[in-house]
Amino acid sequence: MIIYKKEQEIEWMRHSNEIVANTIAHLAGMLRPGITTQQLDSAAGTFIRDHGGIPSFLNYHGYPYNTCISVNDAVVHGFPSSRELQEGDLISIDCGVFKNGFHGDSAYSFAIAGAGDDVLKLMRVTKESLYKGIEKAIAGNRVGDVAWAVQEHTERLHGYGVVRELVGHGIGRSLHEDPQVPNFGKRGNGAKLLPGMTIAIEPMINMGKKDVYYDTDGWTVRTKDGKPAAHYEHSVCVQKDKADILSTFVPIEAAEAANSHLVFKYSDAAVLQ
Ligand code: MF3
Ligand code: CO
Repeated sequence: MIIYKKEQEIEWMRHSNEIVANTIAHLAGMLRPGITTQQLDSAAGTFIRDHGGIPSFLNYHGYPYNTCISVNDAVVHGFPSSRELQEGDLISIDCGVFKNGFHGDSAYSFAIAGAGDDVLKLMRVTKESLYKGIEKAIAGNRVGDVAWAVQEHTERLHGYGVVRELVGHGIGRSLHEDPQVPNFGKRGNGAKLLPGMTIAIEPMINMGKKDVYYDTDGWTVRTKDGKPAAHYEHSVCVQKDKADILSTFVPIEAAEAANSHLVFKYSDAAVLQ
């Protein structure tokens, strides 16, 4: 069942997503070789609670951390750990915040200095594909139009692997609502998009093949070929002519650009032009 949101509910979702963005931005400022992903996760928990939110992911189906932090061959749902970040790592931070009865959900991928051009290109193309999907998230289109746009840009244009096992989703009072929003599919297929539908669009794109497996921790999704993967996610509200993007990368990109331990090449401004 798809749950349509009223104006006030959309504003609450925007607020939860602002905390998500500021949390990821806070972590972006901490990224450097030597920091552990566990340190990042606990900083996220403190930051979210200091802003009146609850980490959406914590205890979700038993998920044991505040955030998902996925490094290199980890695609999504990575467990924060005692592993120290290293030069050249690709690190994806996925964060959810629950406040005023509504969830926000967004993710962003970063490159630690030393990352190769192939990694930076994967990040740029994945981010571009997110916006290509969002462009299609308008009333009258279908979920398949969003899915097709992401797949077209990443798989057909650039030869990357689109993960099939995990998909984007409706979002609201629950972290995961109907409909599912895959990153692969056919134009004109699937649920019709209507104003007030709130969905999380989240391309999970592998540099190599699409195949993934679950780590022995039962959560972390990794690429079978061991090559890196990128993940960007926005929560958006479908509207008539243009989707309303409820999450934001603005503070994240500012923190990314200001952190000399990161390679920052492709801002939204660059991918959208
Ligand atoms: N953004 C992811 C998703 O929407 C993260 C949730 S996984 C969790 O599916 F289990 F950790 F919550
Ligand atoms: Co999500």
